[in-house]
Amino acid sequence: MRKTILEFLKYADGPVSGQAMGARLGVSRTTVWKHVGALRNMGYPVVSESGGYRLEDSRDVMCAWEFPGREDRIRYFPETRSTMDEARDLARTGAPHGTVVVAGRQTAGRGRLDRQWISDEGGLYFTLILRPALPLAEVSRILFAASVAMSDVIREVAGAPARVKWPNDILVDDAKVVGMLSEVHAVGETVEYLNLGIGVNVNNDTEGVEPRAASLGELAGRRFSRKDVLGWFLDRFEPLLETRSQAGIMAAWRERAGTLGRAVRVRTVRETLEGIARDVDEDGALVLELPDGTVRRISYGDCFHR
Ligand code: BTN
Repeated sequence: MRKTILEFLKYADGPVSGQAMGARLGVSRTTVWKHVGALRNMGYPVVSESGGYRLEDSRDVMCAWEFPGREDRIRYFPETRSTMDEARDLARTGAPHGTVVVAGRQTAGRGRLDRQWISDEGGLYFTLILRPALPLAEVSRILFAASVAMSDVIREVAGAPARVKWPNDILVDDAKVVGMLSEVHAVGETVEYLNLGIGVNVNNDTEGVEPRAASLGELAGRRFSRKDVLGWFLDRFEPLLETRSQAGIMAAWRERAGTLGRAVRVRTVRETLEGIARDVDEDGALVLELPDGTVRRISYGDCFHR
């Protein structure tokens, strides 16, 4: 019934009264009012005015109905602390492979290495729950595949020269547009779930954000639908998930890389190193050449272009 009410509102020319909708559905005005309240809780901007209810611009609402063919896998929260927290709870209680937890805004968004991820309205914040049939040592392929898919979305839809930065950031002209964070739960070598959180600056204001950031809206001079950005990403990422070739994914990542050959500073949990980023190996580790010519392989850390 809620969906039908939404359809009435979407296709109406002006406000629709609760009484009129109730008469069409064979229910009371109070029942309509309850369903309208539920739609509002789901994030639909339904306003009440003299002629009845009117739906304002809902292009940015990301609830499951808005993703035909993927409805059963989308979990939308207009606001939450962090999609990583929601996804962890869902994964522990058996959410299936491919579940997407998406939020309109986050009040405690998390970045890598214990940083905060500012998550105001206008950005896209989601976590994918994945149950890959891969040993722990090989799951990094999925993160690199996600960087490849998202950088292609940015190039194609915003026309911006997106480059990937090791390990999984996406930059345009050295300004960060996308960040990724992963959490893996494994028993021995067997991966139970991999939660991959992705934050995309879509229409949010990035002024003052450090390190330097940019949003798709700022880059292209127009607004984007977050729902569309998520859909386009899933269209590209899901087929890559089936790719068995780690070498193929790493080759695609290298083609889009902005890090290789550059002087970088790399922060790991234990130390900070400076050198030249020479390559990424087949496991996704950064191959860093230090000033004395020795080579280090770094599996986890953050990299800053110098
Ligand atoms: C980084 O670059 O430091 C990683 C940022 C990851 C942010 C995303 S937004 C969706 C998901 N929920 C979070 O709290 N963090 C990730």
